[in-house]
Amino acid sequence: NWTMARFLDQEIARIRDLVGPEGQVLGAVSGGVDSTVAAKLMKEAIGDRFWAVLVNNGVMRLDECEQVERDLKQHLGINLTVIDASKDFLDGLKGLHDPEQKRKFIGGKFIDVFEAEAAKIEEAAEKSGKGTKIGFFLQGTLYPDVIESLSFKGPSATIKTHHNVGGLPERMTNGQGLQLIEPLRSLYKDEVRELGRTLGIHEELVMRHPFPGPGIAVRILGEVTEEKVRIARQADHIFISEIRKAGLYDQISQAYAAVDPSRAVGVMGDKRVYGYIIILRAVTTTDFMTAEAFNFPWEFLQRVMNRIVNEVNGVCRVTYDITSKPPGTIELE
Ligand code: XMP
Repeated sequence: NWTMARFLDQEIARIRDLVGPEGQVLGAVSGGVDSTVAAKLMKEAIGDRFWAVLVNNGVMRLDECEQVERDLKQHLGINLTVIDASKDFLDGLKGLHDPEQKRKFIGGKFIDVFEAEAAKIEEAAEKSGKGTKIGFFLQGTLYPDVIESLSFKGPSATIKTHHNVGGLPERMTNGQGLQLIEPLRSLYKDEVRELGRTLGIHEELVMRHPFPGPGIAVRILGEVTEEKVRIARQADHIFISEIRKAGLYDQISQAYAAVDPSRAVGVMGDKRVYGYIIILRAVTTTDFMTAEAFNFPWEFLQRVMNRIVNEVNGVCRVTYDITSKPPGTIELE
C-alpha cells in the first residue's frame, strides 16, 4: 500500500538511478512550497550535486529573499546560489502599466538572468569535483499543472499568462540538452505538503500560501515604482503578521495587501493629504479556480487598518476586497 515515506524512498531511488553516481542537476527555487520540496528531495537524493538558484527579482515580499536563503541553506542544507537582480527588474518595470506586459517582462527577464547564471554555475559545477557536468534540470511541476497544460492549449490559456518560477524556455531543456526531472508531477498540493513534512521541512514553510511568480508586481495596479513596492511590502507584512498573530493563517488559502495608485484624500493631524489606497485580499479555496473572501472579525480589520495608516508612509485608506472568484480573480491583475 501507498505511503508518503514509501513514495519518498522510491523517488529518491528513481532520481539516483536517472542521474547516476556522477550526474549533476540544476534547478530554480522561489521559497514556495513546491520548489522547496522538490529541492529538498534532490538534496536527499544526490546531495550537493544538486545546484539550486534563487533569483531576487525585486518584487519579492519584505525580507523574503533573506528568509528563503536562511531556510534553504541553513535549515535544509541545500547548495544554493542567490542572484540579486532586483535593480535590473525594477528598472525594466519602469513605464510598464499593462499587467500582461509586466508579466511578460518579468518572465522573460527571469529567463535571461537564470540562463546567464546557469552558465556560471555549470562552470563551477564542472570544476567542483562533485561529478560530471550538469545534465538535468529540476522542475516542481504538480499534477494540476500537468492537467492544465494538457487541457488548455487553446485561447482559454491566455486569460492570464502564468509565469512560474522554474518554468524554463524549451531551448534550455532541448537546446542545451538538459533533461527534465519532475518528481512532484503525480502529486496534488496537499500531498506535496505531506511530502515536505516527511522530508523534515518545518510546518511554517510547508503551509506557506502560494505566491505568484511576478510577485508583488501584480499586486501594484499599474506601474511598479520603488515607492509602491515599499508600500506594498510594508502593508502586506502588517496584514500577514496580524493574520498569523490571530491564528488565522492556516484557515486562509491566500492573503496579501495590494496598492491602488489612485490617490484618495485624507486628513492627518490637521492637514489634508493625498495617499495611496491599500486593498486587502484574503480568500479561501480548495482548487484556486473558485474562491470566497475570508470572513474576518470586524475588530481584526480595524486593527490592520489602524496599523497600516499609522505605520506605512504614503497610505491614507485601507479597503477589504470581498469579491468572490468568479468574477474576481484571486490576484488583482
Ligand atoms: P487568479 O488571480 O488567476 O490566481 O485567480 C489563481 C492562482 O494563481 C496565482 N497566480 C499566478 N501564479 N504567476 C504565477 O506563478 C502568475 O502570473 C500568476 N497569476 C496568478 C495566484 O496567486 C493564485 O494562487
